[in-house]
Amino acid sequence: MDVLKGKRIALGVSGGIAAYKAAELLRLMQRSGAEVSVIMTAGAKQFVTPLTFEALSGNPVYHEIFEEGAGRMEHIASASKADLLMVAPLTANTLAKMAQGLADDPVSITYSAFSGPVLVAPAMNDQMWAHSAVRDNIRTLKARGVTVVPPESGELACGAIGPGRLAELDTILDAVKSRLAQSIDYKGKRVLVTAGPTREPIDPVRFISNHSSGKMGYAIADKARLRGAEVTLISGPTALAPPAGVRLLSCERVAEMRDLVLKNITDCDVLVMTAAVGDFAPREIEKEKIKKRGEATLTLEMTQTPDILKEVSTLEEKPFVVGFAAESENILQSALEKQERKKLDMIVANDISAPGIGFQSDDNQVTLISGPDEQETWPRMLKVEIADRLLDRILPSLKAPLGMVPGRERPL
Ligand code: PMT
Repeated sequence: MDVLKGKRIALGVSGGIAAYKAAELLRLMQRSGAEVSVIMTAGAKQFVTPLTFEALSGNPVYHEIFEEGAGRMEHIASASKADLLMVAPLTANTLAKMAQGLADDPVSITYSAFSGPVLVAPAMNDQMWAHSAVRDNIRTLKARGVTVVPPESGELACGAIGPGRLAELDTILDAVKSRLAQSIDYKGKRVLVTAGPTREPIDPVRFISNHSSGKMGYAIADKARLRGAEVTLISGPTALAPPAGVRLLSCERVAEMRDLVLKNITDCDVLVMTAAVGDFAPREIEKEKIKKRGEATLTLEMTQTPDILKEVSTLEEKPFVVGFAAESENILQSALEKQERKKLDMIVANDISAPGIGFQSDDNQVTLISGPDEQETWPRMLKVEIADRLLDRILPSLKAPLGMVPGRERPL
């Protein structure tokens, strides 16, 4: 069965010469069984009229943001129900608005109000495509989980030859299909993710914590949700906005994170622990702010915090468990030891001493370890891309329909 059958696609068209190709794309999607509604920027209307898209799609076209009556709200409400938003062609201008969060035309407004999967197919002059501003904006969209179907090389409308031509329509259609297929492959699965740092108080004003930003875990939670999972995200303090559609449970101390994990793990299919959990906490929390009393040093006595994953490993019924290993030396060996000690189904090792990856950054470079002889080292990529790849690798272990997942005691 075609994955597009019965799907609602919101097709955003921005103002480039390739706008006319959006009409054929619409047709292709309809032939595969999709219901398409079109959204146009003012620029797109310079190339194709709304009437063309209205006649082809059989649906009203959203092309005017200041229209009278309730039309605008209805358009946004109807686009927000779409199974996928795609923008083809995507111009450098609309790309910049999407990247920066501007919302001053029907396409950028729809994007900013849309929480489902988004796919874009850029088309522009080759010099524009190569410009660092465009590269940065593309990277921003990718970091948010938007699928980018890159333009192809060839003769451009301006006469230049180079990359910038809208990808072949069949290529775009294939990308739409895989994105939609992916958007349901975790349907019915419950995913529990931990993210961010923990924070252990020393006194009422100070604490011990670490550099985790939460980006790795939030990316996994968001991707799992976009792929249809029911996601609970247990997060230490971060500056990140919670991903839409994800149940967020906030905590600070290791003991709080432990309690939340153990409380929410029942009936879970997967636990992914990306949280940078502190291994030690002050033995006593001072009731009053510690004052300088003339001594040059201060000694804090620390005790070990509970090892959450180790406790999970002792549960009679447990989900598929994935740990992360933040290492600065002997990366693979240390990660393997942790996998064995904590009885993990998988561990993802990352080097936190290398610049540009690990803590805080949008990128990471990891090795996925399932056992002593099962290791996959992935190239450096965006954390959202790692999230998707990791979910791809976990999924086959959750798919045993009637029997048991190898290594697990609980039938699915
Ligand atoms: O948040 P970002 O800025 O995006 O950075 C991402 C990251 C570097 C934090 C992430 O990729 C990562 O490596 N997370 C694991 C950090 C960590 O605590 O590693 P660890 O080697 O100390 O612990 C191994 C595993 O045991 C982890 O899954 C950890 O969550 C878990 N653990 C650790 C200590 C503890 N007391 N209980 C635990 O369950």
